[in-house]
Amino acid sequence: MKIETQAVHAGRWTDPATGAVAPPIHLSTTFERHPDGEYPLGFSYSREGNPTRQSLQECLASLEGGKEALAFSSGLAVATALLQGLEPGDHIIAPHDVYYGLRQVIGGVFAKWPLETSYVDMTDVAAVRAATRPNTRLVLIETPSNPLLTITDLAAVARIAREVNAISVCDGTFTTPVLQRPFDWGVDMVWHSTTKYISGHSDMVGGALVTRYDNYLFERARKSLIFGGAAPSPFDCWLALRGVSTLPWRMRAHSGNAQAVTEFLKQHPAVERVYYPGLPEHPGHEIAERQMSGWGGMLSFQVRGGRDAAMTVAARVRLFTRATSLGGPHSLIEHRASSEGRDSKTPQNLLRVSVGLEHPDDLISDLQQALPPG
Ligand SMILES: Cc1ncc(COP(=O)(O)O)c(C=O)c1O
Repeated sequence: MKIETQAVHAGRWTDPATGAVAPPIHLSTTFERHPDGEYPLGFSYSREGNPTRQSLQECLASLEGGKEALAFSSGLAVATALLQGLEPGDHIIAPHDVYYGLRQVIGGVFAKWPLETSYVDMTDVAAVRAATRPNTRLVLIETPSNPLLTITDLAAVARIAREVNAISVCDGTFTTPVLQRPFDWGVDMVWHSTTKYISGHSDMVGGALVTRYDNYLFERARKSLIFGGAAPSPFDCWLALRGVSTLPWRMRAHSGNAQAVTEFLKQHPAVERVYYPGLPEHPGHEIAERQMSGWGGMLSFQVRGGRDAAMTVAARVRLFTRATSLGGPHSLIEHRASSEGRDSKTPQNLLRVSVGLEHPDDLISDLQQALPPG
């Protein structure tokens, strides 16, 4: 079945009790036990499992082409659950430009675990290989990365992880299964912030972990979800499910709009550099062309004149909203370094853009009036 069809149908069915076509939201926290003491319908208590959550999980597993999915209360709750599955002293490899929130989890929440962590430039496959140790258990991948849109060769890094008996996990938030299918390249698991494109409307916070096959880190993440209490609310699961129905079509529109905005920015004299994997001059373009079926809605650009010039552009936009996050219908612009705080390695003149679903002509006009003439 094609992904557009899966997006509408997977994990959902016409309600047999009422004929309702849209799925119900199951708010019940508790479920009746059979006289024999069993739970024949599979649900007992909503933290452990809930029909709406199960629908979302089945849908996401199907879209990703995986064996099973778990839905969490946020993207970072997934990352936390994954790391909780590691033993103290285990070694992990992460991209040197990893999403800063994940760096906070690794360096902050897990500081006392402790974990050994190597932050590596993952565009350099030899560097990834050189970073492996006998105790490497997890290789975290993010491609395209946030916010510099660097591209990692999924097949090469997944192979290295396999060779050292580590589990590879790719952050699929920027691409969704519509634009990139990490399992096709041998990656073991994919995690998502469903807050972003999957729910798609900037109105819920959630996360998901999808696995290609049974493995101990997935099982430990399940335990962490259920007993650590990172369960998403049924309403949030329902919002994500509703959003998923239009995901393939939205991803195409985001990509088309971002491509148009990129073309505009590229030729603008006030713009120093544009980061977008669809650009032929992007250093990862060739690999991106192989492993992505579209370029997505995220791009970054550096403004000539440094931090103040970039801040001025962000201050002058009228249609774009100055806000963090991504993947919703509204186009967002963000001075990323100041969002990331003091430790940020992001260039001070960089603005990150989540290109939304407005008409590209209107987005370009807004940037035109916000940028200095050059
Ligand atoms: C690439 C990426 N991964 C993960 C996350 C974390 O997700 P959440 O905010 O749902 O915890 C984010 C959030 O911005 C993100 O951009």
